[in-house]
Amino acid sequence: MIFSVGLAIVALQATAFATPLASPLDSRASVAFTPPAQGGGSMLDDAGNGLGEPLNVIISGLSSPSVLTDNGFLNYAQSLGFSTECFGVHLGGPQAANLGDGNGFVNQTTELREDYGNEALGTCLESLVGGNHLRMYRQNGPSADTGALFLAVSREQPITQSHDIIPNGYDIGRDELVANATKQTSNAGVTYSATASTITGLLPTGSAGVNHGIALDGNVVLLTVKTL
Ligand SMILES: *[C@@H]1O[C@H](CO)[C@@H](O)[C@H](O)[C@H]1NC(C)=O
Ligand SMILES: *[C@@H]1O[C@H](CO)[C@@H](O)[C@H](O)[C@H]1NC(C)=O
Repeated sequence: MIFSVGLAIVALQATAFATPLASPLDSRASVAFTPPAQGGGSMLDDAGNGLGEPLNVIISGLSSPSVLTDNGFLNYAQSLGFSTECFGVHLGGPQAANLGDGNGFVNQTTELREDYGNEALGTCLESLVGGNHLRMYRQNGPSADTGALFLAVSREQPITQSHDIIPNGYDIGRDELVANATKQTSNAGVTYSATASTITGLLPTGSAGVNHGIALDGNVVLLTVKTL
């Protein structure tokens, strides 16, 4: 993992400001993402109880365009060991996030669970034994149409614990995803590689406002994913 603490976000914000948003298509593929707070959004989603889960991984808008589509993201996530939920059954309600892109609060686009090597049945196993879990939100509103994907990643407890997050489960879930992403991965004939940089200052540190009262280290990992 590359630690470009602090500096990366300064550079990214500078880019976001420097790029005139002439049209949504022009802004696509010109910035990695826009910090949600700039548009009145938040890096904590809305868990429905006044608290939020951290958007702790961002797939850069500068990634290969195919990775940023719904099907392309699913294939990429499958290469990392995630899949769709057990028989499409959602356990727990959707959560909404405001990415500061002018769309306001929008429910997650997709929710995926670790599949334990079996895309059809593995997520059912995750539902039973716990494992890595993510919600995906896309920054595509009229004021920040970067195409970046914001992920809320967490490691869950088994269903016997009503799917709560394990202690330190946000940071752990993020780091497990990133550990897999920075290896070369492939699925359905597409091979991916990603570079990672850690950004501070987007998320708070500590547990104030965080769902389940689990403290965060405050780091967000920006992944730039390329198809090979
Ligand atoms: C999210 O989905 C739930 C359940 O379908 C719905 O009640 C809620 O209004 C949605 N929230 C947003 C912000 O669209
Ligand atoms: C990624 O790799 C780790 C091992 O480093 C593993 O424990 C984890 O379950 C993997 N999968 C996901 C989806 O994070």
